[in-house]
Amino acid sequence: MPVAVKGLEGIVAADTRMSFIDGEKGVLEYVGIEIDALARHSTFEETTFLLWNLRLPKRAELDAFSTDLRSRYELPPGMEQRITSLPTSAQPMHMLRTMISSLALHDSDPNRNDPASARVKALNILAQAPAIVAAFDRHRRGLPVVRPNKALSFAANFLYMLNGKEPTPTMARAFDACMILHADHGLNNSTFTARVIASTLSDVYSAITGAVGSLRGPLHGGANEDVMKMLNEIPTVSASEAFIKHKLDTKAKIAGFGHRVYKAYDPRATYLKTLAKQLSEDTGNRDLYEKSQAIEGVMLREKAAKGIYPNVDFYSATTYHCIGLQLDLFTPMFALSRIAGWAGHVIEQLSDNRLFRPDVDYVGPHGVAYVPLAER
Ligand code: ACO
Repeated sequence: MPVAVKGLEGIVAADTRMSFIDGEKGVLEYVGIEIDALARHSTFEETTFLLWNLRLPKRAELDAFSTDLRSRYELPPGMEQRITSLPTSAQPMHMLRTMISSLALHDSDPNRNDPASARVKALNILAQAPAIVAAFDRHRRGLPVVRPNKALSFAANFLYMLNGKEPTPTMARAFDACMILHADHGLNNSTFTARVIASTLSDVYSAITGAVGSLRGPLHGGANEDVMKMLNEIPTVSASEAFIKHKLDTKAKIAGFGHRVYKAYDPRATYLKTLAKQLSEDTGNRDLYEKSQAIEGVMLREKAAKGIYPNVDFYSATTYHCIGLQLDLFTPMFALSRIAGWAGHVIEQLSDNRLFRPDVDYVGPHGVAYVPLAER
């Protein structure tokens, strides 16, 4: 009798050529290239090309891809009006999920999912998601919406639309590296969600919309916001140790630690730690980095034996704060980047599709007599 595997741990549900994870050794590669090398030397545009084409582009190919992406930065007519009519109290992840879904309403043929059409839809969603987040954030702050600037990279353009001025090269580079690090990660929950939706031969918009909903959860991409809340809650660096020990004593989980696959240091956290250190010094936020280090020290002492280490969300919290992002934009930032991975997986799923339809183990009663309403 087959038994349900809770959380599907250890179950292989698909093949991918995009990213490889060795959770025991703490290795992550995109198409065979170590994540650290990509974070240091690549750009988000180049990394997306890599994930979607399974090879690095030549110069002319990268230029063409970047130009194509930039030509799609502008939102379809009517979208800005829709965003600026939303309640300013709306949460950005709910807003993003809804607005990505609504992009389908502007597509005259939204259901086409042959490889070429799926790519065009993916490119549009990737190009326009930053404008959606930035327009909403400015709307809720009572500021005029800033239209995209095609002269800027994906990362720089987002910060430009958000702040109304071009970011410094250091900030743009730091944000670009964050985008690279979050772009793909095996069959994580949101990617699985996207593939499950795609497997019904539904459309790319539905798959990405569903993935945004999955990412929001605090056990997944929502953890970066919880990390920041925790750092804000700890009054001083010296209070960090007692704070974490108390949480562990009450069996609470510490946001930004632990991972279903990694039982070693998350290689994305290694790079983000360096970035967080540098940015926190540059922006006068050294206490955030020092608190993070103190928390990491306690966690490694208490939990490393159980394979619990910092994950991608832990140092991305400090990094995003130093880049100047509002707390509730942290998870949307994860989404902006992961659209590259979700879309790549949707295309991969469609190229060799079979409907996902697992079994469920019925554990309820049988042979129960129907009791008429009046007799219950
Ligand atoms: N703090 C303290 N203990 C932890 C933590 C943590 N962050 N994570 C796991 N543990 C402990 C659990 O209490 C459990 O202990 P037990 O065996 O004594 O009961 C054991 O480690 C296994 O934990 P599970 O929750 O069963 O592991 P699972 O693989 O289901 O969950 C998850 C992984 C959800 C990431 C978990 O580690 C967690 O909740 N972490 C905090 C939230 C977080 O940072 N999420 C982001 C993950 S990265 C991403 O999605 C981008």
